[in-house]
Amino acid sequence: MIKEKLGAKGVGFVFPQPDALKTSEEPVKEKKPPREIKFDLKPKEVKAFLDRFVIQQDEAKKVLAIAVCDHYHHVASCLGKEGCGNYAKQNVLLMGPTGVGKTYLIRTIATLIGVPFIKADATKFSETGYVGGDVEDLIRDLVHKADGDITLAQYGIIYLDEVDKIAAPSNLMGRDVSGQGVQRGLLKLMEETEIALKSSSDLTSQIQAVMEFQAKGKIERKTINTRHVLFIMSGAFDGLTEIVKKRMQMRSIGFLEPLQAMDQHVQMQRHGTTQDFIKFGFDPEFVARLPVRVVLNDLWEEDLYKILKTSEDSVVKQYVGDFKAYGIDVVFSDESLWAIAKKAALEKTGARGLFTICEKALRDYKYELPSTGVRRFVVTPALIENPIEELQRMLQDPAYIDQEFMTLQIQSFEKEFENKFQVKIHFIEDACAWMKEVLSKEGTTVEEWCREKLKNYEYGLVLIRQNSGKEIFEITKEVLENPQAALDGWIRDSYFGR
Ligand SMILES: Nc1ncnc2c1ncn2[C@@H]1O[C@H](COP(=O)(O)OP(=O)(O)OP(=O)(O)O)[C@@H](O)[C@H]1O
Ligand SMILES: [Mg+2]
Repeated sequence: MIKEKLGAKGVGFVFPQPDALKTSEEPVKEKKPPREIKFDLKPKEVKAFLDRFVIQQDEAKKVLAIAVCDHYHHVASCLGKEGCGNYAKQNVLLMGPTGVGKTYLIRTIATLIGVPFIKADATKFSETGYVGGDVEDLIRDLVHKADGDITLAQYGIIYLDEVDKIAAPSNLMGRDVSGQGVQRGLLKLMEETEIALKSSSDLTSQIQAVMEFQAKGKIERKTINTRHVLFIMSGAFDGLTEIVKKRMQMRSIGFLEPLQAMDQHVQMQRHGTTQDFIKFGFDPEFVARLPVRVVLNDLWEEDLYKILKTSEDSVVKQYVGDFKAYGIDVVFSDESLWAIAKKAALEKTGARGLFTICEKALRDYKYELPSTGVRRFVVTPALIENPIEELQRMLQDPAYIDQEFMTLQIQSFEKEFENKFQVKIHFIEDACAWMKEVLSKEGTTVEEWCREKLKNYEYGLVLIRQNSGKEIFEITKEVLENPQAALDGWIRDSYFGR
């Protein structure tokens, strides 16, 4: 799958597929021949891969691309003749507002990673209370992900999300003991420690140990060293803004416009120092072991539009797939994408707002349309604004759907013409109405019909542009009724400077 995504180049490392991974009940396997790691991607290539899915956040993409490539090289040298040397781990901390791509970035990069990789939520640990034991399970999970290969697991990557939730601010009433405990547990792992492969709190491991003792007369203690495990952590760090602002003695954010305030939130986090993190509730040693810090940007209306338009697994693609499963083709007009982006921006939940808006608008369509004869429809700005009314209109008048489809096809013909010949044509309203009327009787597509009608326009309009510099042409009903005569007239005028 990775090879498909990256072409011939990529990760030559043979790593077990998820379905081949062994469950935690199975014993860790004995010695295996060392695996070969071949990773020939450069940071720019990793970033280019991320660009296909994640919009904006260039700094974070760069940081992660470098971190992953460096980690691979380090692993390769440790496993090779050179040895590890004195390598300082580059653990990464991602910060930023909600819904801007922190988790999504890691999820996307994980598809490229050949060393064992696991993801967990820090909240899980602070809630359970079994602090030390649970945190160590992260390392054991790496071993299972590595199909029992301890050597490989020692070079794995652990991604811990929602890490801001384990802060334990000292100024809080009743200091958050569990958060502090989790930090200490993690600190141990981030530094260097030996973790027993068989957890003393896990009953299955204990039973396995007893069986091993019965069979061999001794128990072999296997441990895994955490020195080379790379940690990537992320969180929204909302409270940090206020701390940095106070330190910098800035004026209250309340005086600023809401959008500027959001922007300032990001700016403030960028200025966060180790001292600010300590105030936020982290142990100094813990912060010190997260040397690479990057703040993700807010996503504005234009970014949200780009996500819908270009991201390879955006919410639009998801909806198209969902409707396709019922045999329904749905097309989102460009204007509707802007309408969704605009509304989503007001939600102030980053790209998550896109899901909210689409769900609100299309919920009834998903419910009603599969049981009707409707086999295609267009998402328009009107649908986003008034979904119920538009749905009723569609169901009462099936021809309405075709009209909408033709509008979309006319627009895409205009765009394609402009892209190909650098001349803009615009069908005005009476031309569109007439065209739709004719086409609903003829049964040809907009594209076929326009190509035939305007077959000499490509050459003709380019000629006029060369003569007179004119770049925009309005197509009226009269023009469509007699296209050749209209074109001849325009060409004549262009020679006479009219
Ligand atoms: N920059 C982006 N480009 C494309 N899609 C994005 C981007 N950011 C977010 N998304 C979409 O929004 C969803 C939610 O984003 P994500 O889970 O990464 O948020 P987050 O930054 O981790 O927020 P939180 O702090 O609330 O966990 C993603 O699954 C993805 O579909
Ligand atoms: Mg997240």
